[in-house]
Amino acid sequence: MKICVIGTGYVGLVGSAVFADWGNQVIGVDNNPDKIKMIESGNMPIFEPGLKELVAKNINNGNLKFTNSLPEGISEAEIIFICVGTPMSDGGSADLKYIYQVAEEIALNMESPKIISIKSTVPVGTNRKVREFIKSKTSIEFASVSVPEFLREGSSIEDMNKTDRTVIGSNDSEALEKVSQLFNHLNSPIVKCDLESAELIKYASNSFLATKISFINEIAQICDLSGADVTKVAYGMGLDSRIGPKFLNASIGYGGSCFPKDVLALYKASEDFGYHFNILESVMKTNKNQKYYFLNKIKSIYGNSLEGKKVAALGLAFKNDTDDIRESVAIEVIKLLKELGAEVNVFDPEAMPNSQKVLGDENINYLNSKEEVFNDSDFLVILTEWKEFKDISNEYLLKLRDRNIFDGRNLLESSKIKELGINYYSIGRK
Ligand code: UDX
Ligand code: UDX
Repeated sequence: MKICVIGTGYVGLVGSAVFADWGNQVIGVDNNPDKIKMIESGNMPIFEPGLKELVAKNINNGNLKFTNSLPEGISEAEIIFICVGTPMSDGGSADLKYIYQVAEEIALNMESPKIISIKSTVPVGTNRKVREFIKSKTSIEFASVSVPEFLREGSSIEDMNKTDRTVIGSNDSEALEKVSQLFNHLNSPIVKCDLESAELIKYASNSFLATKISFINEIAQICDLSGADVTKVAYGMGLDSRIGPKFLNASIGYGGSCFPKDVLALYKASEDFGYHFNILESVMKTNKNQKYYFLNKIKSIYGNSLEGKKVAALGLAFKNDTDDIRESVAIEVIKLLKELGAEVNVFDPEAMPNSQKVLGDENINYLNSKEEVFNDSDFLVILTEWKEFKDISNEYLLKLRDRNIFDGRNLLESSKIKELGINYYSIGRK
């Protein structure tokens, strides 16, 4: 099939490469010329495992190309996927200016009938409004489809190839069948529904996952108070197939470009419908407080000032296997440590260049390895769940003998740390 993907960010670039790898003819469009040049020269603007190789493979076999020109991108396409960002606006709802910008450009340049699918996360009702907007600018026939994405950064290629489900919403049955053909080979359920249900499935899924995380984070606090172990509690809960084991890792809170924005956007959209979404209000409050809960563990040992203290910090990205620091709680914690007067030694395998732009250089030392952060440090904080932080050798940990580790991701084995003569504080474990 001939496909055009508009917006080559996290979602669009991965989407273009995977659609091409499935044997389609794909053209990726982005209005940022530097991004297109970079991709064409074989360098990825983002870090995503396997992406560079997949893009190169499909450019070489002729299935994938890129352009800055939207008219060129859409001219041959049967299906257009809109994948531009929908960031949080000042008021908290989704900012749809890029969606409308692209919709207008499509309308003004479309010369033959198209299927226009929105993959970006948009509030319920948006596809229908965008449809009316495009209709007001062109007389050419088109179908509107909603195909929300469910990709996790760091594993998005695998997530696309082994998806639990594909959701396709449309009120045009022919277009719905045509878009389904793209995903039939995956042998996973395809949920065919109306536009509004598809839009809401995405928000409801992300909000539910965020709720799971805030729930386990509150359980972790009860564990700290009662002496229970949250990893055991989560394991025991997760074995119940009605609950499931995933997204029950207690942490310093969820971050990223999706959960914070999508939970708030669903909350705001509900208000617009005249409904007050109590649970989501609590989910957001718990998540906001969780980093302070972590910080209070540090304050309970060192008091309210960290003047003269050097902190070893592992992790800056909002989660493992990405260079993305959007809404990263790790970054927020480092800012708070700096505000208390600490100097911070920091390492992240991929997110250092992005972090330096927002954290600056004052009182922060960006180091080249996870081992170097231990130099002269008073205590260690673990802020991102990178697997490689799990196996720091004792040689380095021993530099913290008689000192403290604050593990915001429950990565280390508490008994092992204790044996080394180091005090260990985590989230909801003794
Ligand atoms: C995506 C989704 O679109 C968003 O709705 C979802 O909730 C999270 O994932 P993401 O891929 O992370 O967003 O966005 P981003 O990395 O900002 O990429 C968007 C791309 O679109 C950028 O490369 C930008 O240059 C491009 N763009 C933006 C256009 O090509 N045209 C525009 O008019 C605006
Ligand atoms: C999310 C959704 O999972 C994906 O389906 C959607 O389409 C885009 O948003 P992503 O933001 O890439 O994906 O990461 P995810 O793995 O969901 O993690 C989000 C945040 O929750 C991270 O900060 C992570 O550290 C945190 N998290 C996750 C926890 O604190 N505990 C958990 O058990 C799981």
